[in-house]
Amino acid sequence: MKTSTFNPIDSALNYRDVAKASVVLRQPRGREVKAMLVLVVVFVVVGLLGVSAWGSILKVSTRVSQTGGWSADMDLPALFPADQPPEPELDGATFVVGKQLFGATCASCHGMSGLGVANLGKNLVISRWMKAQSDLQLVEFIKRGRGVEDPLNTTKVPMPPRGGNAAFTDVHITQITAYLRGLQDPRRVPAILPTPAPLVLPAALPTGPMASLPGIDDSEYDASSIREGQKLFMASCVSCHGPDARGIAKLGKDLVKSPFFNATDDEKMLAFMKSGRPASDPANTTKVDMPPKGGNPALSEEGLGSIIAYLRYMHEQDKKHG
Ligand code: HEC
Ligand code: HEC
Repeated sequence: MKTSTFNPIDSALNYRDVAKASVVLRQPRGREVKAMLVLVVVFVVVGLLGVSAWGSILKVSTRVSQTGGWSADMDLPALFPADQPPEPELDGATFVVGKQLFGATCASCHGMSGLGVANLGKNLVISRWMKAQSDLQLVEFIKRGRGVEDPLNTTKVPMPPRGGNAAFTDVHITQITAYLRGLQDPRRVPAILPTPAPLVLPAALPTGPMASLPGIDDSEYDASSIREGQKLFMASCVSCHGPDARGIAKLGKDLVKSPFFNATDDEKMLAFMKSGRPASDPANTTKVDMPPKGGNPALSEEGLGSIIAYLRYMHEQDKKHG
């Protein structure tokens, strides 16, 4: 009777049989060849998937770095496909002035590169809505703004008329529009740009009962600083804190009644205004950024000092007259 187990004490013939059998076993047979083929196919498929996934990862990460964040627009075709010719080149002089105006007024909510600021303005670079507007329509939109009651408003944060600067004329806004077009399609920006003259930011004339600065000559604070401060406030802070510094819902706080402002000395207040208070700061209560220098990097310490004098005067008047 044959046993299936190998006994080394068995005959030399058995040894030879076993050696032969093991050689046969080490050679791939039909079934193993098939299994190996299946494995090769699986590796190839996984490899290809990996390569294509890597491609999309690269594409998405490029879009994220270009647009500054994740967006539902990411899966849509490119706004300005590279294989389609750009619109005509922009006028360099108009573009650079537009950039200055944008930097001083719109950047506080939309960021200098137009990528948007969390809880404030939208990303304009990837805005399909903006691309669809003609230049004239865009100018009209910027003049009008978009209140929270507007059905097109998706953020529940207001886009103030003229970005909050009522002194902007159609010319200023046309210049800003040129800058916006260049942000969206950099191919339209001339390779050589002129150096613009230093910006004199137009400031809105104040309105309301405090516009004429009543009682300024009896104020404890220097009248010319107050006047200068009012002008600068109307240019740089008004978009979020409102024309009378009483705050705008969902944007900046009331500064006239602010316990923090009124309890902080000039030096500390200057330091605060220079650094701002981002939404991530534990002291921030609104979850909206107070940008450094109110978003206008061109404001000097002297200018900020005048704004402080203006706000001290506003508080003084409020205490006197309620
Ligand atoms: C105080 C903050 C603030 C300032 C300053 C501001 N914006 Fe806006 N802007 C917004 C908000 C918020 C929205 C989005 C409103 C919404 O939900 O539709 C917006 C929307 C827009 C849009 C429409 C984008 C879209 O896709 O719907 C354009 C264009 C725009 N702003 C341009 C400007 C320009 C130009 C300036 C400067 C003159 C400016 N903004 C200043 C807050 C601001
Ligand atoms: C883009 C909007 C925006 C602009 C522009 C802006 N601020 Fe503010 N500011 C805020 C917000 C939002 C807060 C409140 C932050 C918080 O929740 O603590 C704030 C807070 C402040 C406070 C502290 C008030 C308090 O009670 O805590 C001062 C002072 C202030 N801003 C001054 C200014 C001045 C001066 C300017 C102009 C140079 C300016 N801001 C421009 C949004 C703005």
